[in-house]
Amino acid sequence: METDQKRWDKRFGQKEFALGKEPNTFLRKHIRLLPKGKALDIAAGEGRNAVFLAQQGFEVDAVDISEKGLKKAQKLARKKGVKINTSLIDLDQYPIEKEQYDLIADFYFLKRRLIPRIKKGLKKGGKVIFETYLLEHRALGTGGPKQAKYFLKPNELLRLFKDLRILFYREGIFREGGKRRAIASLIAEKI
Ligand SMILES: C[S@@+](CC[C@H](N)C(=O)[O-])C[C@H]1O[C@@H](n2cnc3c(N)ncnc32)[C@H](O)[C@@H]1O
Repeated sequence: METDQKRWDKRFGQKEFALGKEPNTFLRKHIRLLPKGKALDIAAGEGRNAVFLAQQGFEVDAVDISEKGLKKAQKLARKKGVKINTSLIDLDQYPIEKEQYDLIADFYFLKRRLIPRIKKGLKKGGKVIFETYLLEHRALGTGGPKQAKYFLKPNELLRLFKDLRILFYREGIFREGGKRRAIASLIAEKI
């Protein structure tokens, strides 16, 4: 079976940015709710969100399993005149440092076992911003993962972060980034 690393390196191996250079719409729209400081971008891919956060003044650690993705992230950062720290890691193994981050961003990477580590990695008062697909997305035929385990059930993202203060939550079908997507988006604060 092809490993995640090979699959994503193949996807990010082209010159064009497979996921675009523009930040996620939910992140861009809610940037003012997020505390400045040290940020971790989980599964940062080609860096569209990490670079945006650096442009907003965050000190950004961007982690991912794809070397090709992280190379493009550094290239994008150079082009935009900002710095990001990239680390090639497997999030199945990666121990997020405790109480290190003011912000942890997770866009379109659902690994339920990682959630307790995300919570521990936040400083008190730190925030998590998270967005990914709902099960309903599969019926839309507008791309996304194949396996059912990568999709959220109704209210699941809310439940996963229920011990944090939920500042913003939505679920539904939204047309953002040029495509219809069934997604859940959340911003929550560690208390
Ligand atoms: C759908 S992409 C999202 C990328 C980025 N968050 C964004 O929104 O542009 C999923 C990312 O997860 C990364 N990934 C997959 N499995 C991983 C693992 N075990 N550890 C670290 N990153 C992984 C892939 O390389 C890819 O960059």
